[in-house]
Amino acid sequence: MITLTHVTEAQQFSREGLMELCSAAERMKQLVREQGCTNTLQNKVMVVLFYQPSTRTRLSFESAMVRLGGRYVSTESALDFSSHSKGESLEDTIQAVASYGDVVVLRYHEEGGAERAARVSPVPVINAGDGPGQHPTQALLDIYTIHNTFQRIDGLKIALVGDLKHGRTVHSLAYMLGKFAIARIYLVSPSKVGMPGELVEYLQRHRIDYAIHDNLLPIAHDVDVVYTTRVQREYFDDLSEYQEAYGKYVLSREVMAELKREAIILHPLPRNDEIPPEVDQDPRARYFEQVRNGLYMRMALLELLLR
Ligand code: NCD
Repeated sequence: MITLTHVTEAQQFSREGLMELCSAAERMKQLVREQGCTNTLQNKVMVVLFYQPSTRTRLSFESAMVRLGGRYVSTESALDFSSHSKGESLEDTIQAVASYGDVVVLRYHEEGGAERAARVSPVPVINAGDGPGQHPTQALLDIYTIHNTFQRIDGLKIALVGDLKHGRTVHSLAYMLGKFAIARIYLVSPSKVGMPGELVEYLQRHRIDYAIHDNLLPIAHDVDVVYTTRVQREYFDDLSEYQEAYGKYVLSREVMAELKREAIILHPLPRNDEIPPEVDQDPRARYFEQVRNGLYMRMALLELLLR
């Protein structure tokens, strides 16, 4: 059994740990289908502290806790509605809220927020996104979705597409993919918003075959997984750079025609124009399955941390 205290970054998970969590998520899927809820965490309270907007991440954590019989207290818009607006430091806020629960799920607007919180928190901290840094629980559900589809991660060719500079989900996913014998990772983005250097070095250190492209069409025929992302407008200082990146990687009819029949299309959501709504009917579109898997994976994670 893997043991975890805090969940701050994707690198902390071993390959074996990831596979264990995938099996646990699979069991949670069965449990939800058969009985809806259980009571394994009935004496536990989760504190949810979000400084940035969220739909899926926050509600899936809350639903996961409720389905396990636990309870939660929650604040969204913590930038405005917590004592942050009175000048309180993250460290002080965490020490206060940690006494209200057994685990803290934190989404912060700056990179490194979860790490700072973990340093002072007496209870486990889960990173639910730290600015343009990481989003490890999203990557867990991405790994689970890929593994569920292909029954393996080794040997796959995966394209990470879009704003690779600011997209925290692709950072965490790339770190996790580095633990497997991936056949190739395509990093597809405009050069101004390419994958951060430290992540590219990490892939090199883990001997992952990677290729950098600024066009999706020529490589679409070669991939098993297309992981598309939104251009993260909120992190651009220069709006003209945003406009340059926006709308560049659309799953157009042309791209869809190139994709293999067995390939899958993933997206952490929310989407903008990267995936036209008509793609939703295509059997290769799996982003809503990803959303459902988020619930099962977060149930698995909470149980592992709190039971
Ligand atoms: C993402 C996020 O917040 O990082 N959404 C999510 O949690 N599923 C992706 C995004 O905002 O583009």
